Amino acid sequence: MASRGAFSNKLGFILAAAGSAVGLGNIWKFPFEVEAGGGAAFVMLYLVFCFVLCFPVMVTEIAIGRKTEKNAVGAFTDLGFKKWKVVGMLGILAGVVILSFYNVVAGWAFGYFIEMIQGNFDIGSNFGGFVSDIGKVGLYGIIFMLVTAYIVSRGVSGGIERAAKILMPTLIIMILGLVLYSFTLPNAMTGVKYYLVPDFSELNLRVIGGALRQAFFSLSLGMGALITYGSYLSKKENIVSSAAYITMFDVGIAFIAGLMMFPLVSYNSGGDMSNIQGGAGLIFVTLPQVFQSLGPVLGIVVGSFFFLLLSFAALTSTVSLLEVPVSYAVDEYGIKRNRAVIVTSIIIFVAGIPSMLGNGYSAFFSNFITYIGAESPTDFMTFFGHLADILLLLGGCLIVFFAAHIWKTKNLNAELSEGYPAYEGSFVQKFLDFTISYFCPVVLGVLFVLVVLSNFFGISLIN
Ligand code: PHE
Repeated sequence: MASRGAFSNKLGFILAAAGSAVGLGNIWKFPFEVEAGGGAAFVMLYLVFCFVLCFPVMVTEIAIGRKTEKNAVGAFTDLGFKKWKVVGMLGILAGVVILSFYNVVAGWAFGYFIEMIQGNFDIGSNFGGFVSDIGKVGLYGIIFMLVTAYIVSRGVSGGIERAAKILMPTLIIMILGLVLYSFTLPNAMTGVKYYLVPDFSELNLRVIGGALRQAFFSLSLGMGALITYGSYLSKKENIVSSAAYITMFDVGIAFIAGLMMFPLVSYNSGGDMSNIQGGAGLIFVTLPQVFQSLGPVLGIVVGSFFFLLLSFAALTSTVSLLEVPVSYAVDEYGIKRNRAVIVTSIIIFVAGIPSMLGNGYSAFFSNFITYIGAESPTDFMTFFGHLADILLLLGGCLIVFFAAHIWKTKNLNAELSEGYPAYEGSFVQKFLDFTISYFCPVVLGVLFVLVVLSNFFGISLIN
């Protein structure tokens, strides 16, 4: 195991896994998905999904990884089920798809940091110009990929663990500070209400599917990222409690990010929540205007620091995304880590070019595909996002099914008992046995089918 690298202790693992989970998904994607899902009802569903559907999947992924000490594909073969390695392959595909566009958005965040240092608050109203400036976006994308590649080439347990210990808490404090500030602004309460007071008449399959996709994405589930990270975890540690911390941490950050955003959005729109700029630009449009309201000096300090920390949060996620294909290449083909990093990051960067071009620069990629039954076309990045989301749902469904029914619950439970001797017979065990064996595979399987049909084919079987 030493040659594969390992986390130094439980805290190191939790921080790295939480670092994977906490990222653009929480601060960039969550708020605009909430907006697309119509507000508080989406938030409630998201919270429920995270704990009853996603937490069991997370436990399962970590257990498979730690048991086998293998990458997402090798883990399945190592347990003796060769055919099931296709689940790992799907995960690698999802990882490549996600990182290809995630890196582009991470580049935007980094670019905003550079703009904020220069006091360019107008960047918010010029978001469209910024993302279609291919020179800038290309450069920031390259920089971000290089930094990610450098860290992954050094192995997961080095610098990333140490940096996460300082920067993640700083990010949280900063968001909390902005929450407090946002509450003092005019119309803040309209935003809070929108975010927290649900109107369940808004619930439909689109909202349900959206909340579930967001939960999977945000918790880094369904593609073997946590199988891979679990493979570096020591047998002494308690998987169930680690997964609980990671889930609470990630959900907590998404929740406070929303609590920060919606009062700000409402402030900027003069309290009219029906008329806000949603989509991928939500935070990039809203936040600079708010930073400007802090005055030139404080605005620059807070604004640049915020986007720097956001870039860092994205970095701990891009690292975990790249680690999935890299550990696969290293374990399964005996390729040297450095070479695997170089090859995979080039492939992923190239796969991300259409996402860079599809935000206004190229008309073709900006109107890439029109789903059946949809009124307007979808850009390439959004399309890749949807594709990734459904791969994660499918992966998650197959992973829990595999663990409970192919590998068998008793083997899973034996692994979970390592580092948690009281596990067998506990209430937690009963909850996890039921969810992993029946609840998760059935619900995820059904929702996967419904979401695919309604998203891509315009066929809605319910509602
Ligand atoms: N969970 C990460 C985020 O919220 C994104 C991610 C998805 C990372 C899947 C790894 C695997 O930003």
